[in-house]
Order: sequence, then structure tokens, then C-alpha cells
Amino acid sequence: MEYISAKLSNYEFEKITGLIYSLCGISLGSGKKELVTARLTKRLNDLKLPSFDSYLKHVQHDESVYELLQLIDVITTNVTSFFREMHHFDYIREHMIPAFKAKSDRVRIWSAGCSSGEEPYSMAILLNEELGNVMLKDIKILATDISTHILSRAKEGLYEKQLVEGVPKAMLAKYFECLTSRDEFKNVKYFYRVKPELKNLISFARLNLMEEWPMKGPFKIIFCRNVMIYFDKQTQEKLVGKYYNLLEPGGHLFIGHSENLSSISHSYKYVQPGVYMKC
Ligand SMILES: C[S@@+](CC[C@H](N)C(=O)[O-])C[C@H]1O[C@@H](n2cnc3c(N)ncnc32)[C@H](O)[C@@H]1O
Repeated sequence: MEYISAKLSNYEFEKITGLIYSLCGISLGSGKKELVTARLTKRLNDLKLPSFDSYLKHVQHDESVYELLQLIDVITTNVTSFFREMHHFDYIREHMIPAFKAKSDRVRIWSAGCSSGEEPYSMAILLNEELGNVMLKDIKILATDISTHILSRAKEGLYEKQLVEGVPKAMLAKYFECLTSRDEFKNVKYFYRVKPELKNLISFARLNLMEEWPMKGPFKIIFCRNVMIYFDKQTQEKLVGKYYNLLEPGGHLFIGHSENLSSISHSYKYVQPGVYMKC
């Protein structure tokens, strides 16, 4: 079959980026034209469409919104890892878990933009390690993402060996089941599946942060790490304010290493890089 390699005109680029911005708040400047071309060319080929213009028409006429979801899936960047930005987990262990231990009250945590699940599973491991049998406590982690594809991987909780490198060996043995399979060359491949006791702590749900939020909170911890980096200042400010309203007093918002709230107006107390507290 012939490979389709269409040229993305400036007009089509603006139409596509405008659609993405209105759908999911992701702001793609002109520097992202190559990225959009590369990622959508695969969709053009899958659908056997000759041009980006025909792709746009296809998206607009698809009443099932299936193609809109595909568009979001290919455009979103899902890079993540277990115990990413370890200093956040250290902070929670040192400064928040003692209070969770002292009072057996309800602990609600939200991983907003959870990608393939490494972030909420890391949190579940930390809580299990520090609080013993957390199933006996009223602890729940909500993990949401806009991408249906990445969310189904998160729910599955099955990771190739290289993806669990950030998990200490003892925890890997305790919280994951090791599976093997053979590839086409008969080489053994190792996979690690999250055990049910960890999964049971987490509710996965699709949520577009730009739409209505059904949950009421209040949360002790909100992770929104490496998500807002794709949004403009106005969208970031709105989101950060909504997170504030959903946090308990003393609750914390964690954001990614390349993000900060210095250029937007907010009511949090700065604690340390990426960590903000509602007073
Ligand atoms: C780079 S990943 C970050 C994953 C994880 N929080 C971490 O720091 O490792 C960004 C995630 O944000 C999600 N995302 C982007 N726009 C979103 C939106 N409008 N609503 C919800 N999730 C969104 C993407 O699908 C992606 O999985």
C-alpha cells in the first residue's frame, strides 16, 4: 500500500491546533508544526486519507466522536515513570504521612493527568509501605486522564521490565507479579503486573480537565505534574484555583519540575519546588 505523506499547510495547522486547544486546553505554538505533522500522519495512513484537510473533515463529521478521542490520544504526551521526581514522595513520607498515621481519618488523593498509571501506583506503594495495611484505612486514590488509550493501559497495570526500573527490588517483588512471554525470535520478555491489593486503592476515570469535574473532594494531595506545562497561563490559573477549592486546608498541590506558579495569581503557600500548600 502507498504511504501517505501529506504537507500540513499553515491554515490546516491553525485549524487543528485551534480544535485541540478548545477540546483539551493544550496550547501548541507554531514550533509544534512538525510534531503535529508527524503524529497525525499516522492517522492519515490508518484512515487512508490523502490530506490533513480531509482528516479535519473526517473529525468534524464523525458523530461518534471516536476520531476526536484518537486525535487527543496522538497529540497528548504521556511520558511518565515510577517514582518520578522522588523528592515529592520523600516530602509526603516525611511531612504528610506522620499526620495520616496519627489520625485514622479519610485520605483522598488525586492524580490528575495520571498517564499510564506509574504516578498513582507509586503513591499506592508509598502508602502501603508507610501505613502498613492501608486497606484497613479509609484511603482512596483517584487517577484521571483525558486519553482513553493511556487510561486503559493504566487500568491494566502491566509494564515491561524497563518501565519498572525505578521501583526498588523489594517493592517489585511485593507489589508486582512477574510474567514472561517469548517474542518472535524466541527471546524471553519480562512483564510486571500490579497486584490487586494496590489496584484496589485506585479508581481510574477519564476526565478532561477542561470540562466539569464531578468529584467533590476534599483532597489531601493533588498531583498535577507535567500536565499544565501544555496549557497557557490563563488555563493554568483557572485550574490551579479549582484545585485550591478541592483541597483540604493543609492539603498540598504537587506540580512538575519544569512548572511553577510564579507568573500566575494564586492563594497557595510555596513550600519547595513543585510543592504548594493550601493554608
Ligand atoms: C506528561 S504526562 C504526565 C504524567 C504524570 N503526571 C507524570 O508527571 O509523570 C501528561 C498527561 O496529561 C494528560 N492530559 C493532557 N491534557 C489533559 C486534559 N485536558 N485533561 C486531562 N488530562 C490531560 C495527558 O493525556 C498525559 O497523560
